[in-house]
Amino acid sequence: MISRQTPETIQAALARGTVLLAKSSDSPRLDAQLLLAHVLGKEPSWLVAHAESYLARMQAERFTGLLAKRAAGTPVAHAIGMWSFYGRSFEVNESVLVPRPETEHLVEAAVAYLGRRLEAHAFTKHLFTLLDVGVGSGAIACSIAAEFPTVVVDGTDVSEDAVKVAERNARRFNVHGRCKFIVGDLTQPVSHKQYDAVIANLPYVPSADVAALRGSDPDVALDGGPDGLDHYRRLLPALPPVLKADYLVLLEAAPPTIRTLAELVHDALPDATVAIERDYGGRERYVAASRERAATR
Ligand SMILES: C[S@@+](CC[C@H](N)C(=O)[O-])C[C@H]1O[C@@H](n2cnc3c(N)ncnc32)[C@H](O)[C@@H]1O
Repeated sequence: MISRQTPETIQAALARGTVLLAKSSDSPRLDAQLLLAHVLGKEPSWLVAHAESYLARMQAERFTGLLAKRAAGTPVAHAIGMWSFYGRSFEVNESVLVPRPETEHLVEAAVAYLGRRLEAHAFTKHLFTLLDVGVGSGAIACSIAAEFPTVVVDGTDVSEDAVKVAERNARRFNVHGRCKFIVGDLTQPVSHKQYDAVIANLPYVPSADVAALRGSDPDVALDGGPDGLDHYRRLLPALPPVLKADYLVLLEAAPPTIRTLAELVHDALPDATVAIERDYGGRERYVAASRERAATR
């Protein structure tokens, strides 16, 4: 308990938080840093350089409240309602998957592809159009829109609450004029349109494994059916009608299923060049399929 008479330094607050979270978290020090950085509106690295600075009483009390939530099992992301993805802080809540670091690869790959297409002057006359299937918090869609002012993004999600979060994030990053998020199944709400790129990080956890992960993310963002590929099996036949003649398709899935997914992509998009890409840990996690005519290379 913090008394009015004893102001606490950042260092002391972090030590207090680390001890308090030791039983409930595998990363008590990091969690305490993230919570305190959030309270102070700073990056965690700022805390290190200001370890001797004193907290205001309100700040110490707010930190204590967040520590209590975390100690009761609430994930850090949900305790603070924010999570960092591709260098930006996204609003998150219980309706959306907390965006994972491995998903940043999809943004990186799309950004690299867009850079190449822009260099080839393919978008001097029209905007680049992208579809994010299963948009969730809008992490992928908003990141790409924020990187490229000539990109317009549609996103779909079966969760109405997720779409609301994605819309708030689009406003947060001032890309709402170029992002449209729609409630609906896979490509169904946009089946009349064509895109330069389609990205999907659909639920890919095998149903039998969902229970072990339940608690932090909604089931609708996790459950991919018996082998984790049910959503992709339904998505792939729906892709050709929504793709332009030149396109990029990027999909994320679980490493053990990625070769099967690549075969499914090859069957659905026989004209595409299909490649498997690895995550930061060296595991095969993504399938990239592209078709580029010589004129735009
Ligand atoms: C694994 S989360 C990914 C969220 C976000 N794209 C990201 O990478 O952080 C999958 C998302 O797909 C949505 N979803 C599940 N089934 C869907 C379907 N049939 N059509 C559209 N979205 C779906 C879920 O609601 C969830 O938001």
